[in-house]
Amino acid sequence: MASIESMTASPPASSALSSLPAIPSLDPRAPVGIFDSGLGGLSVLRAVRAQLPNEAIIYVADSLYAPYGERDDDFIADRTLAIGEWLVAQGAKALVVACNTATAQSIALVREKLPIQLIGVEPGVKPAALQSRSRVAGVLATQVTLRSARFQALLERHAADCRFLCQPGHGLVQAVERCDIGSPELRALLESYIQPMLDAGADTLVLGCTHYPFLDAAIRDIAGDRLTLIDTSIAIARQLERVLDQQGLSSPGRDAAPQPRFCSTSDGAHLRQLAATLLQIDAPVERVHIPSRRTAATDSHAA
Ligand code: DGL
Repeated sequence: MASIESMTASPPASSALSSLPAIPSLDPRAPVGIFDSGLGGLSVLRAVRAQLPNEAIIYVADSLYAPYGERDDDFIADRTLAIGEWLVAQGAKALVVACNTATAQSIALVREKLPIQLIGVEPGVKPAALQSRSRVAGVLATQVTLRSARFQALLERHAADCRFLCQPGHGLVQAVERCDIGSPELRALLESYIQPMLDAGADTLVLGCTHYPFLDAAIRDIAGDRLTLIDTSIAIARQLERVLDQQGLSSPGRDAAPQPRFCSTSDGAHLRQLAATLLQIDAPVERVHIPSRRTAATDSHAA
């Protein structure tokens, strides 16, 4: 039986599983869509580009509405579906939901409605349980992810004989969204989450939010080599590769790796800055308007 500890109380949420819709005929040269509430999905984009350099990518940051981790379930499902539909309309042949929160909350629902394959992300509980020697592991993720039925099921499946200390990373997504990956305030916040895990004997830390790999240097400063960090972005890139292969949708070779097409629902300045400094990609960012049921009122107000 898994031993699971919440560092704060969180109620379970419900989820549903469904069968996949038929896949329409798609062009292998079409782009892969990658989406996140904001800039965190860039850590997944980095891994996808390394693994699949021939693939064209459209990246959408829903920064106008980040963080999702503090939103209600319906809002997250509404935005995930609207952005998925927008990416399908842009010609995407597959969609990576590079957001643990959106995956945990809405991937099953959205999968039923989109005619392309979806690849989700989830906290690396399984690799942590396999690797931890002390049998104590920390999980940093958003409140929504931690309280989701999908995450609770993940713990039940893989956490046998390992104690998991689950800590919501309040404030961390907001910091990365403003390109703060190392200020004294951010380090103090991180320390308040990580030190109790170290004190409890954790030797492994699951980065259960795609924004958090950008905080690895700050986490190292706090924990040194006492924590093995688990980031699943490379596994996601490999899963995307398998799915594209199975569907006959892998892009044929190209002369040069295409630049990603970056889109943001906000002004995109921070997306451009983070992509340039951390991924060495200097590409323009398009501001895009992606309406959805829950944001209609704000949109018409802003128009
Ligand atoms: N990158 C998202 C995740 O992996 C952050 C969610 C948020 O916006 O709070 O969960």
